[in-house]
Amino acid sequence: MSELAALLNQAEQDITAAKTLPDINDLRVKYLGKSGLITSKLKTLGALPVEERKTAGQEINKIKEAVAKLVNDKINQLEQAEITKKLATETLDITLPIRPTPKGSIHPITQVIDEVTSILGGLGFNFVDGPNLEDDFHNFTALNIPATHPARQMHDTFYVDVDGEEKVLRTHTSPVQIRTMKAGKPPFKIISAGRTYRSDSDITHTPMFHQVEGLYIDKNIHMGHLKYVLQQFIEQFFGIKDVPMRFRPSYFPFTEPSAEVDIGCSRNKGDLKIGAGNSWLEVLGCGMVNQNVLKNVGIDPDEYQGFAFGMGIERLAMLKYNIADLRTFFTADARWLEHYGFNSLNIPNLVSKI
Ligand code: PHE
Repeated sequence: MSELAALLNQAEQDITAAKTLPDINDLRVKYLGKSGLITSKLKTLGALPVEERKTAGQEINKIKEAVAKLVNDKINQLEQAEITKKLATETLDITLPIRPTPKGSIHPITQVIDEVTSILGGLGFNFVDGPNLEDDFHNFTALNIPATHPARQMHDTFYVDVDGEEKVLRTHTSPVQIRTMKAGKPPFKIISAGRTYRSDSDITHTPMFHQVEGLYIDKNIHMGHLKYVLQQFIEQFFGIKDVPMRFRPSYFPFTEPSAEVDIGCSRNKGDLKIGAGNSWLEVLGCGMVNQNVLKNVGIDPDEYQGFAFGMGIERLAMLKYNIADLRTFFTADARWLEHYGFNSLNIPNLVSKI
């Protein structure tokens, strides 16, 4: 056997015996490296007579290519084996039940806003949004609460300086009525819901709370429509048919006449139940939009009129879901959220619940 053939033979044996990628790397260096066995052979060519150099060179190169191929094949083979082994040892049993993962939940405030929106949406009201940071005009003046009006004191307003301009954190969602009416032409049939703010903090008040507002303006809207909408709303929201309702005369600067609405309930040793019973519970404020408000937004009160109503989301949530303490809504206690929160798939829909 020629010297070259013996070299190839030896390389073949070595490479076949190699078991790991580092082994094969060592062999690559041993044969093909800078001072490897085959490379050194190439270096001897210079010493050969010119006529022999060409054939000898070709022979050595052939061996070199053969060894390089063996090395590459072996590398591929070892890498493949490693992947196969990994796949075999790292299989996932997808038939196993998933591990319980920490889950978030929908806050009762969000849930109730969704419920209210869905019920009133079903009655044809469109949802519109408004800013939390308001100006005096939209929050007060346009709503028939001029600067000297005592109702301003009732609102315990947070005043905010924005670049030298005095703004207010909206004390109710009613400014959305103004924004809506100023931006478009009647008829209007909208609701809005969101955060409201008053500088008040005790067992039954938090400085930030939520309201929902409704407004319906058209050519022949009267209190009968208001009563129907609220009756529908209360029955669908609480899921109880024929909830007794009572309209009590009241006062709001932006409505005339104004009323507060009580719903029937029974009280039994601190236990409250909505529905026909021995007692009443106040749930919302409403009335026919004051003519001054319509004039302030450029609507002719002889042609158009309508109603507005507003209610507290927390109160609705507390009554429906038996939440005893208002302040717990905002303490972000994970245990409370787990208990009172809603599954994110439990989406209120337009299907009437009664
Ligand atoms: N904005 C009133 C409040 O915050 C509620 C209300 C809205 C009353 C619309 C009448 C009509 O108390």
